[in-house]
Parts: sequence; structure tokens; C-alpha cells
Amino acid sequence: MTGFDAVGVAYAAHSGGARGRLRHDLVAARLLAELPERPSRILDVGCGDGEMTLRLAAAGHDVTAVDPSTRMLAAATARLAMRPELADRVRLLKAGLDSLPFHGDVFDAVCCHGVLMYLDGPGAAVARLSGLVAPSGLLSVLAKNRRAIGMREALRGDSGTARSLIESGTDTSVGNLDLPTRGDTAQALDRLAAESGLTPLPWQGVRVFHDHLDDDWAPDPEGYEAALRLEWTASWKSPYRDVAHLVHTLARRPEGSRR
Ligand SMILES: C[S@@+](CC[C@H](N)C(=O)[O-])C[C@H]1O[C@@H](n2cnc3c(N)ncnc32)[C@H](O)[C@@H]1O
Repeated sequence: MTGFDAVGVAYAAHSGGARGRLRHDLVAARLLAELPERPSRILDVGCGDGEMTLRLAAAGHDVTAVDPSTRMLAAATARLAMRPELADRVRLLKAGLDSLPFHGDVFDAVCCHGVLMYLDGPGAAVARLSGLVAPSGLLSVLAKNRRAIGMREALRGDSGTARSLIESGTDTSVGNLDLPTRGDTAQALDRLAAESGLTPLPWQGVRVFHDHLDDDWAPDPEGYEAALRLEWTASWKSPYRDVAHLVHTLARRPEGSRR
């Protein structure tokens, strides 16, 4: 299904700006806090240009990263080439959720960030990804927050679009890359993980206060740090996290349990 071969440049512009960085910094901070200090085997599904893959490898983990888009994979390969010290810890493969080439393999963590929003629904994906999580391992999902649909449009001053999104109760709106994207609730994602035998951990809302800013938002380093600290604090707490643009859900497979 992916239109990503055509939107790689827009993705890089979004991902590389302060707004995009906020998201990566918040998600990476949580993930690294949940992972053991020893090197872990991590699978990053829909790795895009490899931002999280490279961060996890830089922290000492062994990362297998997959993406179905030739263009995104080429971007990840180019970024990896700039970090030769990470080459031994990163494996990049062309594959999507429907064609994952792992038969019987399991991982200490399986990440799927910013991908479910491009699928028709989350159920099959969460079940498939959960099946790849080892005992004591982690499933990390970053999804568009269904509960916040209309917030960005409203805060940007587009009252008409916001009102019709909210009135209709739709789960889909146009995302950062000008593609329609579908939202999920953290509660539904937790329920799906639990149905696959995983135990949900506390979830966070990602980008509560800075989501509606433009991609050219460019705070100075001090301003960025203050924004990051504010977002981290609010990310755990309702009602703030309930209206964040994204939800980061995590779930762990109990030690000694079978898949
Ligand atoms: C918004 S990007 C997110 C990239 C990265 N995970 C991140 O968080 O920055 C979405 C990625 O999902 C990939 N994708 C789209 N459909 C997919 C599928 N069915 N299975 C796996 N990846 C998919 C796209 O090619 C794209 O690279």
C-alpha cells in the first residue's frame, strides 16, 4: 500500500525538524529506559529512513530494520553508510508487515512506529508483531491518536475542517505528509497486545503542545530542551496525553510464557 516511495523528501524534512525530533527524542528515551543495558536483538518494522534504528544501534543494540519502500530503505542505507561504526549492528531488509522473513525468530524488542496509521486496521499487525516478541521482550507501537483527531486543525485555525472531523467521529485525517492517516486509541492497542499474551505497560502521549506548529519551528537549544521536558512530563498524564497527536504504547511478554 505504501505511497512512501513518492514522499521520502517530505518525510525527511518533517523528521529532521525540531517537531520531528521531539517525537524521536520522546520515543527513544522511553524505549531505552525499558530495554536492558545488555545488547538486545531489536526488530524495527517500517524503519523509514532509519532514525530509530540508528539510535538503538548507537546505544549498543543489534537492530534488524525492515521497510517495503525502496526509497526509504535507500535513505536508511545512506544514513548507515555515514555511521560505519554501527555497520556490524544493523541489518536492513526490504519487507513489509505482510512479508516479514522471520520464521521462528524472536526479538527482545519489536518496534513499529508510525506505520499502523497507513493500514486499514491495527488487529492483524499487532498480532503478527506480538508473535515475534521473545519472553521478557517488548512490543513498542507508535500510532496516531484517534482521540485527538481534529485537534491539530483546530489549533492551526482551520475551524471548519476541525469541526467536521469531530462531528463525523472519523478515525482518519490528513497527516504530516499530506496522506490520509488512520488513528488508534491507546486502549485499543493495549487490548490487542493483551489478546496476544503481552502485558501492557503505561502508555504515553507524544507531542501534546507542539504538534500544531509548522515543520520550520526552530527553537534555540534551551527552548528545545524546555519543550522536550514539558512534553515528557505531560506525556504520562491525563488529560494532556489524551490529546497528544501520537500514542506510544508498550507491552511486555511475561518471562517464561510461550508465544
Ligand atoms: C511515517 S514513516 C515512519 C518511519 C519510522 N518508523 C519513524 O518512526 O520515523 C512510515 C514507514 O512505514 C512504512 N510502511 C508503510 N506500509 C508498511 C507496511 N505495510 N509494513 C511495513 N512498513 C510499512 C513506509 O514505507 C514508511 O517508511
